[in-house]
Amino acid sequence: MLKDKTRWNEKYKELALPTYVTKEVEKYHAFAIGKEALDIACGKGRNSNYLLEQGFNVDAIDYSDEALKSVDDRANKIDADLDDFTFEQNRYHLILNINFLNRNKIPQIKEALKKSGIIIFRTMLEADKEGFRVPSNRDYLLRKNELLHLFIDHDIIYYEEYEDLSLQNEKVMVASLVARKR
Ligand SMILES: C[S@@+](CC[C@H](N)C(=O)[O-])C[C@H]1O[C@@H](n2cnc3c(N)ncnc32)[C@H](O)[C@@H]1O
Repeated sequence: MLKDKTRWNEKYKELALPTYVTKEVEKYHAFAIGKEALDIACGKGRNSNYLLEQGFNVDAIDYSDEALKSVDDRANKIDADLDDFTFEQNRYHLILNINFLNRNKIPQIKEALKKSGIIIFRTMLEADKEGFRVPSNRDYLLRKNELLHLFIDHDIIYYEEYEDLSLQNEKVMVASLVARKR
């Protein structure tokens, strides 16, 4: 959607977003048994850049050309709308889906993973307490236990729902999962 792409480009110009690697990526990337990785909605590439440093070949996809400028040139940067993009099947040892949710992509994520491939998926969860940020569009919000159910046909290595800070330092609930394709 062009409107959302423009909004993201503006956000990336205006805001200083964190550059640290996502803790689950740091902790679990080494579970991958090969070096082909995909970073879905990579943003400015904090996790793509980390994986490059760990010796991965990275396909980094996002529709914000502004964000992609910050992704290391060693990555294969893909400027595309995920709504219209199909991942290559049986291609990746490791897939990241961090702070992004498009439920329609989940079957494709599973097909894009090689056997024994690792998915690291972390994004916002509904919050039933006061004072937590939730997106106005609830399509971008996981329900409790939903992420676990979405990958229940994989071997679950880690699953947690916890309180965290958003990229813009607001209190949020997140669900986080690491799983291996059977
Ligand atoms: C919250 S940011 C997360 C960025 C990164 N994963 C991180 O955690 O630093 C969400 C990203 O999704 C991208 N995005 C949203 N919808 C998209 C779409 N339909 N196609 C491609 N990228 C999209 C935005 O441009 C933005 O960079």
